[in-house]
Order: sequence, then C-alpha cells, then structure tokens
Amino acid sequence: MQHLLRAADLSVDNIHSLLDSAAIFEQHITSRTRLDRMQGRVLINLFAEPSTRTRLSFERAMLALGGQVQTIGAAESSLLKGESLEDTGRTLSCYGDVIAMRHPTPGAVAALARGARIPVINAGDGSHEHPTQSLLDLYTMKRRVGRLNKLVVGLVGDLKHSRTIHSLVDMLAPFQPQLVCVAPPELGLPAELVNSLAVRGISALHADDLSTVMPELDVLYVTRLQRERFEDLALYERLQASYHVNAASLVGAKKNMVVMHPLPRVNELSPDVDADPRAAYFDQVRYGVPVRMAILDALLDALAADKPAL
Ligand code: NCD
Repeated sequence: MQHLLRAADLSVDNIHSLLDSAAIFEQHITSRTRLDRMQGRVLINLFAEPSTRTRLSFERAMLALGGQVQTIGAAESSLLKGESLEDTGRTLSCYGDVIAMRHPTPGAVAALARGARIPVINAGDGSHEHPTQSLLDLYTMKRRVGRLNKLVVGLVGDLKHSRTIHSLVDMLAPFQPQLVCVAPPELGLPAELVNSLAVRGISALHADDLSTVMPELDVLYVTRLQRERFEDLALYERLQASYHVNAASLVGAKKNMVVMHPLPRVNELSPDVDADPRAAYFDQVRYGVPVRMAILDALLDALAADKPAL
C-alpha cells in the first residue's frame, strides 16, 4: 500500500511529476473544467486538530476531481472510546478509497496507515511532519522564484515545533538549499533534523538579526509560534513578542524574493506586508487545491493500475 506520510516518501522524480500535474490541474480549476477522474470514489477526512486550509483544500480537490468526501472529527469518532488507530484505519477503509488525516500525536497517522487497506495521507501529525503543505510550498517557490535549485531560504519563527518547517527542509534538501534560521535558541531546528541535513551536505546557518541576511534571501518563510505545543506558556508569551515581520523588515530584500507563511498567522507577520507583491501566502492557500488534486490523483491512479505511486 502506498501512503504519503513523510516528505522523505517522495523522490525528486515524484516531486517533479506531482508539480507538473498540479500545474495542469491548476489550469483546469481556472477554466472550471469538469473532471470525473474520481467518479465513484470517496475521500475520508479524519481531522483531530483544527484546520481551515488543509481540510477544505483536500475536500475541494476531491470534489474538483469528480469524487466525494466524508468527514469525521476525532471527537465524534470511536477513537474517543479507546479504539486503536489501527482498527480505525481498517474501518475507514471499508467506507472510502483514500484517507487524509490530521492528529496531534507524532506518528499517529502512520499508526492508522498500518491498519488501513487504502492510501493514507498525512495532513499533519503533531510537531512531526506535514508533507502535502511542503509540496504546495515547493509549487509556490517554483511558480514565484522560477526554480527550486539552490534557493537561499530564511526560516523564521518556531522551527522546533513547526511540522511545516520539518517537512519543508526535508523536501527541499535534494535541491541543495542554503538555509538561514532566524529563531530564538529555544526554538531552533531539532538536532536530529540538523544532523540529517548535514549528512546530505546542507548546513543550516543561524542569524540573530533578519535584516542582516534579508538581501541574500530568495524565500522568507515565516511561521507562527505553535502555542498548543508549548509546555511552558510563560515561555510562549515571552518568545512570541520577540519577533515580528512587517513591511519595514523587507527593506533591502530582492525584488523577486517571496514571503511565505503556511498560515494561520497570529502576531508574527503583519498585514502591512499583504500589499507587497512579494507576499505569496495567499497564493500558497490557493495552490493547495491543485497540489492536493495531483497527490490524490497519483495515489489512486497507481492503486487502480496496481503499480507503485511514489
Ligand atoms: C499549518 C499546520 O497546521 O501545521 N497550517 C497549515 O496546514 N496550513 C501551520 C500552523 O498551524 O502553524
């Protein structure tokens, strides 16, 4: 069974082919072409954490492909009665053709996938990974900067807990990025991730001050502090006041640099950046649909043809 659980599940060839098919699906969406590739097929969305963009874009993607969607929250499911993730996976497989799942516990989506008989997509597992977000992030970078190779990427915010950051650096690694981390010491990239990047020849530099590195950046990727993952809320309050990106922060940046953010934003990215042509975060939101169409299509196509998808 083919699942998409981690960024590492995708080879460079997989990434290129998914981005290419996302570009075709984007045209279909723009021209409102009716597609029936998923006719008679059902996506099951199991979301055990809040979500606006990921959940709705998975739904929109499946509907745009001519399929149907059934949604269940963890609070409504038998997980609350103590059912195992494996049994839940096996059960959902009796009703649908593919599962998209979000859960607060790292590894929970992989556990459900072990019981499932249909493909499972990780829509975010705690502070661990969020691979479909990374694919739409790469799509945005390719569209806006024009390439993926050797990008200089500034990572700002909660690099310790942000699953979007963890999957992003892993998925970008084969494209030899230069990573510049701008984060308080308490919120740096996990050591395990830094080591795995080092093995692949990628160093993550640190900068205390964003303004000193701004002129070098091709991408400025901002994240919110993940309040729900802090054990010490006083630390959260102290750190969340410590950084803020606004229009003035972009002084000296390249003209074709892009400002990205997986959203939601809280205080770390000011709305006064929105009018800047370099702001790409609502493009990311929009690109979530064609990119997730490409993922659903690849997984279900391979299943139908009984060949590996990834
Ligand atoms: C992110 C997530 O859920 O990890 N949002 C998203 O999926 N676009 C980012 C976040 O919650 O900070």
